[in-house]
Amino acid sequence: MSVLIKGGRIVTAADDILGDVFVEDERVTLIGERLDVAADRVVDATGKYVLPGCVDPHTHLDMPFGGTVTVDDFESGHAAAAFGGTTCHVDFVIQSRGQSFGEALADWHAKREGKALIDNGFHMAVTDLDEGGTLEELATLPDQGVTSYKLFMAYKGALMVDDETLFRTMEVAAETGALVLVHAENGDAIDVLVRRALAAGRTEPIHHALTRPPELEGEATNRAIQLAHVAGCPLYVVHVSCSDAALPISVARAKGWPVWGETCTQYLVIDETFLERPDFEGAKYVYTPPPRPLEHQDALWQALRTDTLSAVSTDHCAFLWDGQKTLGRDDFSKIPNGAPGLENRLHMLHELGVRGGRITLNRMVELLATNPAKLFGLYPRKGTIAVGSDADLVVFDPDRRHTITAAAHHSRSDYNLYEGTEVTGAPELVLVRGQVVVDGDELVGKPGSGQFVRRARFGELLTASAPLRA
Ligand code: URP
Ligand code: ZN
Ligand code: ZN
Repeated sequence: MSVLIKGGRIVTAADDILGDVFVEDERVTLIGERLDVAADRVVDATGKYVLPGCVDPHTHLDMPFGGTVTVDDFESGHAAAAFGGTTCHVDFVIQSRGQSFGEALADWHAKREGKALIDNGFHMAVTDLDEGGTLEELATLPDQGVTSYKLFMAYKGALMVDDETLFRTMEVAAETGALVLVHAENGDAIDVLVRRALAAGRTEPIHHALTRPPELEGEATNRAIQLAHVAGCPLYVVHVSCSDAALPISVARAKGWPVWGETCTQYLVIDETFLERPDFEGAKYVYTPPPRPLEHQDALWQALRTDTLSAVSTDHCAFLWDGQKTLGRDDFSKIPNGAPGLENRLHMLHELGVRGGRITLNRMVELLATNPAKLFGLYPRKGTIAVGSDADLVVFDPDRRHTITAAAHHSRSDYNLYEGTEVTGAPELVLVRGQVVVDGDELVGKPGSGQFVRRARFGELLTASAPLRA
């Protein structure tokens, strides 16, 4: 199968050129002006952007959490991703208590089998080094292409680990060349505040935010940074929601420490007041860290512009409002934490970031594709358009008007965080390794065609000769 994409504006993190892209089998093989080659399919991209497929480094598909299971599996989640121009993501394997890492990884491989439409890798979420996985086993994961370890510093009594587990995992990462990811909030202090709020009869969704103040995210972020520095490992702070957490990251980066941070689309759009919406609608916005007071949004955009924050993910963790979020109708702490978003990251970053004059088109590509690919061992196979790269491509129409609604989205969730938002600019054609998966409004990709990607170790390139398949 060959595809010639003609006359588009080819935008990468570094370049912005008019030209043609020729795809043979799974790779980009030619980039040039007025390419004179025969192709099975010729796409006229005049007036369109040709972007690298976006890479989402933070998703939770088919994940047991909060007494239920996220509503999108690898099929519906991938359909949502593909319509949003995301062609690769890195999902979290969650080690259950008492489970080995190998068992946990096998469980997550089984979840994607026969369903995947786009490519994905896995992070390993370490929850138990006492009765489950061992440090020795953890050290073997990078050989299986799982080159990042995630630790939760919150969710006491569920996923949270203590500082010893965090630090020991960091030491293993320093030896094996893995990247450590942290959910940085002080889970002990939050637990005290939650219990006190409930004892005082404060049960509404807004108390989710009031019991998780920004200072507790800032404290945990700084703690993780200092521990990683002592352990000697690189660190990536997920879902930074506030200036309190961005500050220690900027201080560490100014010192030249190997520390990076991401924020998520929702923190740039939704503020704390959404949690006060009547009739339990506020529960739709219960995710962790919570939406923050409005002033944090400017701080996050500034952090994205100055590279204090280097990526935007979705933290897609979708639930139904009706039947799942409602588990917490009488107790905010029982509302499953998480929200959908996989389909709308590019829409929203283009609308608010590029069209809003906050970031350039190049920076948008860097935040959504190139940096996630580089940080997570996928580059240059993913995250850019170059000869030899996987032909993961998005033909993006910057003039196409699109209204975001739950009725029209592809997640199984019954609501959308950005309901009713009108954007100008949307993907028109999406290719994964040269195969068209989305053509206009039609999903043409076949379940099972997405591949598991064995990622390179931190700082190493995933070159064309590296084995991509499991
Ligand atoms: O509320 C969230 N973010 N749910 C997913 C789990 C996590 O903390 O990333
Ligand atoms: Zn988290
Ligand atoms: Zn998450």
